[in-house]
Amino acid sequence: MRLVILDSSDKVAEWAAKYVLKRINDFNPGPDKYFVLGLPTGGTPLGMYKKLIEFHKKGLISFKYVKTFNMDEYVGLPRDHPESYHYYMWNNLFKHIDIDPQNVHILNGNAKNLEVECELFEENIKKSGGVELFVGGIGPDGHIAFNEPGSSLVSRTRVKTLAQDTLEANARFFDNDVSKVPKQALTVGVGTVMDAREVMVLITGAHKSFALYKAIEEGVNHMWTVSAFQQHPRTIMICDEDATLELRVKTVKYFKALYAVHKKLIVGEGSQQNEP
Ligand code: F6R
Repeated sequence: MRLVILDSSDKVAEWAAKYVLKRINDFNPGPDKYFVLGLPTGGTPLGMYKKLIEFHKKGLISFKYVKTFNMDEYVGLPRDHPESYHYYMWNNLFKHIDIDPQNVHILNGNAKNLEVECELFEENIKKSGGVELFVGGIGPDGHIAFNEPGSSLVSRTRVKTLAQDTLEANARFFDNDVSKVPKQALTVGVGTVMDAREVMVLITGAHKSFALYKAIEEGVNHMWTVSAFQQHPRTIMICDEDATLELRVKTVKYFKALYAVHKKLIVGEGSQQNEP
């Protein structure tokens, strides 16, 4: 597992966007070879999306041959509700880039049959050739997507009842009223994300530091679902200083010493503009 420690959440956003840019450009997608990207919502990736839009406007990246699969969506929230993940994705990313709407996949939390909707989503991922890079975020309780503590580490896309912690964390988006937060969501499973060829997790803020410690320094445990990615051959976690508060000094020093190695992951050959 790689852990990239950066000074601030802004640096995390920039680093993550540069990584996505380089991965897509190195892949060299085309009509017969789409890059399949998994995406999260939430506060953490907003800065990365802003940067990706900026790179797109500068002509550094095209999403014409990119297919996306989002991690999750609330059940029963209208698509045009400002807190729906459809609304979030279109407003914070898709409407600003050259992606073909047909290549965007977001679970439909209003589908007549939610189980069939989840099965189709998994099938669609398979038909697209699998996810090349799944970007994720985690909650303070270590959940990835809506895989709450206790979720099976081999879970697939399904309907999930949300934990009280998640409802409370998300209440800030619903007038700080927990009762307005939808109680269920459709979510990819831990197993669905594990199938991706690479997983990049963004973690910022002191409130996520215990979850980062559980993810990195303790064993795989279904009460901290993000810890499953210790067993993924290509996991890269990008965090800010604040998120390292619960890590051992030794761990932080080890990963910080690798900065020169990590820097190479986002610098294109001969391209100075990509320099962090
Ligand atoms: C979002 C998702 C969640 C969030 C997590 C952190 O699609 O699946 O795992 O990434 O709840 O949310 P923020 O970034 O708002 O702290």
